[in-house]
Amino acid sequence: MAHSAPDIDPADVGPLLGGLSAPLAAVSSRAGDVSNAQIAVAITAASIVPQRPRLIVQIYHTNFTHGLIAESGILAVNFLEASQLPLIWQLGMQSGRDGDKLECVGYARGATGSPLIEGCYGYLDCRVVNAMDGGDMTVFLVEVVAGRTNGGERMTWREARPRLPDRWADEWDRKIAGEIDVSLSTMGGVDPATWADHFRNGPQ
Ligand SMILES: Cc1cc2nc3c(=O)[nH]c(=O)nc-3n(C[C@H](O)[C@H](O)[C@H](O)COP(=O)(O)O)c2cc1C
Repeated sequence: MAHSAPDIDPADVGPLLGGLSAPLAAVSSRAGDVSNAQIAVAITAASIVPQRPRLIVQIYHTNFTHGLIAESGILAVNFLEASQLPLIWQLGMQSGRDGDKLECVGYARGATGSPLIEGCYGYLDCRVVNAMDGGDMTVFLVEVVAGRTNGGERMTWREARPRLPDRWADEWDRKIAGEIDVSLSTMGGVDPATWADHFRNGPQ
């Protein structure tokens, strides 16, 4: 059954959504002998147990990285350092489908096998615990199996956005407009019975 929601006026909710914390990170993965990384901000802590950290990571279906995570069940969250502005262009505005984006990016392989990008503020190397389909994207619940804070100055999208060269900002506006169109046509394709039945019949 398709799901539809009413249109919301962005002016009513923009300050609320913009106030949610959004780290700027490169989410990397590897399946078989293919490694890739993309930029992501939709990342949230999802555990109250300090020694068993978990995250929620939202990845869009159309991204090359999505297929690698879905196939391998692994990903690493590489938190960008303030000096890594060019990675927004390299990893966030190109697709691994069109070439090896990590060719010119130094990285090591983490405990899971996911790429750990050099020079980052820190990383969390993770395994997928579960996932939920959002129609246009997947919400991955992941557990952290290794991590390190390297230090430096961490970067948020709010700080980085005004520092983007005009050409990158224009490219981003063009790319996100196309992706919003794709989401509008796919985000309704979620069967609400999946979760409703789970809580009616499954474990509480
Ligand atoms: C600032 C910024 C934030 C982004 N946030 C996300 C995100 O949270 N989730 C996501 O799936 N894509 C996000 N993207 C888009 C991907 O990084 C982008 O589509 C990328 O080209 C996908 O690469 P791939 O096809 O190699 O996986 C973001 C991009 C930028 C520039």
